[in-house]
Amino acid sequence: MAVPSSLLLLILAATLSVAVAYDPLDPNGNITIKWDVMSWTPDGYVAMVTINNYQTYRQIMAPGWTVGWTWARQEVIWSMVGAQATDQGDCSRFKANLPHCCRRTPAVVDLLPGVPYNQQIANCCRGGVLPAYGQSPSSAAAAFQVSVGQAGTTNRTVRLPRNFTLLGPGPGYTCGRARVVPSTVFLTADRRRKTQALMTWNVTCTYSQHLASKYPSCCVSFSSFYNDTIVPCAKCACGCDAHKPCVRSEREGKRLAVTGKKHDANAHGRGNGVAAAAAMAAPLLQCTQHMCPVRVHWHVKLNYKEYWRAKITIVNFNYRMNYTGWTLVAQHPNLDNITEVFSFDYKPVVSYGSINDTAMFYGLKYFNDQLMEAGPHGNVQSEVLMRKDARTFTFRQGWAFPRKVYFNGDECQMPPPDSYPYLPNAAPPAAASLVGSAVAMAALVFFLMA
Ligand SMILES: *[C@@H]1O[C@H](CO)[C@@H](O)[C@H](O)[C@H]1NC(C)=O
Ligand SMILES: *[C@@H]1O[C@H](CO)[C@@H](O)[C@H](O)[C@H]1NC(C)=O
Ligand SMILES: *[C@@H]1O[C@H](CO)[C@@H](O)[C@H](O)[C@H]1NC(C)=O
Ligand SMILES: *[C@@H]1O[C@H](CO)[C@@H](O)[C@H](O)[C@H]1NC(C)=O
Ligand SMILES: *[C@@H]1O[C@H](CO)[C@@H](O)[C@H](O)[C@H]1NC(C)=O
Ligand SMILES: *[C@@H]1O[C@H](CO)[C@@H](O)[C@H](O)[C@H]1NC(C)=O
Ligand SMILES: *[C@@H]1O[C@H](CO)[C@@H](O)[C@H](O)[C@H]1NC(C)=O
Ligand SMILES: *[C@@H]1O[C@H](CO)[C@@H](O)[C@H](O)[C@H]1NC(C)=O
Repeated sequence: MAVPSSLLLLILAATLSVAVAYDPLDPNGNITIKWDVMSWTPDGYVAMVTINNYQTYRQIMAPGWTVGWTWARQEVIWSMVGAQATDQGDCSRFKANLPHCCRRTPAVVDLLPGVPYNQQIANCCRGGVLPAYGQSPSSAAAAFQVSVGQAGTTNRTVRLPRNFTLLGPGPGYTCGRARVVPSTVFLTADRRRKTQALMTWNVTCTYSQHLASKYPSCCVSFSSFYNDTIVPCAKCACGCDAHKPCVRSEREGKRLAVTGKKHDANAHGRGNGVAAAAAMAAPLLQCTQHMCPVRVHWHVKLNYKEYWRAKITIVNFNYRMNYTGWTLVAQHPNLDNITEVFSFDYKPVVSYGSINDTAMFYGLKYFNDQLMEAGPHGNVQSEVLMRKDARTFTFRQGWAFPRKVYFNGDECQMPPPDSYPYLPNAAPPAAASLVGSAVAMAALVFFLMA
């Protein structure tokens, strides 16, 4: 009884996900922005702003987050520590001391690593990179301090900032209203004294892939030892936009990547840092029939008596992106019986108490936690050994392939279900395995080279 009802829940969740920002594999995932007023000043307050990434597997990569809001009145930012506003705005009404930012809608970015110590605070200065909670709970937070002027100076006169926005680094996040919550309590370092924020408010931001981009950003292809068909990514899986530039070869890619950088530098010279960052992030893809920056290949490699083995290969087709701290999430009914994962790190993702069919994979530090730009090194791979559960295990009807795959928190386009490699009905799996394996391996080598 438990299985059908949970299945129903999943289906319900999947349908809901279209309507609202909701990820069925990470239903509680969100990013919260918390403001703790630490002290009042003659004309305002000093607040500690903390950004927590509570998403299990969706991190914010370089060039990092940008947090924006609209002041309720005429507030200004006198100074910031651990972050900076990208645009000072018009401060001409000030004579002596110039504020850090006078814009009604400030946009704040993190500082880069290595800034002088007097500009740093704890959890700052990582270039806006914010790891996912599931991958690195201890570093899934960012913080900065802001000194606000021309603001209220008591908890009744402070007006909360409105219309919070979060870029991570592109669009995709929607932030709710700021809400006053019980004041945060801080423990001193020796844990013997408690202090309390004068006032605290929270903002919750959730991610929706539909807002981030019209098309998926990755696709999935399949192969198996028992059938020599390789099921490629769907054609135009990530959209064959006429304006999407792509290059045929690495040499052409390198040439364009260099001119691209020069162009970006010009944009920076004009003081348009945000546009420069966007241009830097604009992909330069290797031309493929799927036009995805990333492809995940799942190969059913071996069948033992009590175990089976799948090989996962992630290929980068973007000449302008190193995916540092990448994550891969796969959903498959047998992932609750993982016995060993080679050359990737791994964690189960348990989103609904009893269902344990989703796993998060990520690279090993200093070994393959960076998926390099397109080219000879632009891939990472792993093999996963799973124990068979005799009640459910089968190679029929594409059972051995994952139901869902996410790369860096974005769901990848799967091949159409009717194209999955299936088991030849006539031959028993054991007999098919040896011949099929050799053929499939040979074909796979060609496929991965292409
Ligand atoms: C945000 O995530 C946290 C941690 O998962 C959760 O406790 C909280 O309820 C979430 N907030 C919203 C508004 O979903
Ligand atoms: C404001 O401060 C008063 C006491 O100084 C306290 O009773 C009240 O709960 C506070 N209000 C908020 C919204 O924090
Ligand atoms: C916040 O955004 C909404 C819709 O974008 C807009 O109608 C509203 O005026 C904005 N509020 C402020 C204070 O800017
Ligand atoms: C506010 O956010 C903090 C962390 O950002 C979280 O611990 C706390 O539970 C949130 N409070 C509410 C009422 O959502
Ligand atoms: C990716 O990393 C390599 C080695 O660290 C570096 O040479 C290359 O410029 C980086 N590429 C991009 C697009 O950042
Ligand atoms: C989920 O499966 C993994 C892999 O077999 C196992 O290590 C983990 O303990 C399981 N978690 C739960 C809550 O069942
Ligand atoms: C597979 O995992 C499930 C749940 O974790 C467990 O009940 C079952 O006994 C495992 N099967 C094998 C063959 O280990
Ligand atoms: C392999 O799978 C494909 C479907 O992808 C099917 O058309 C083909 O007949 C299968 N090959 C064999 C030998 O069964």
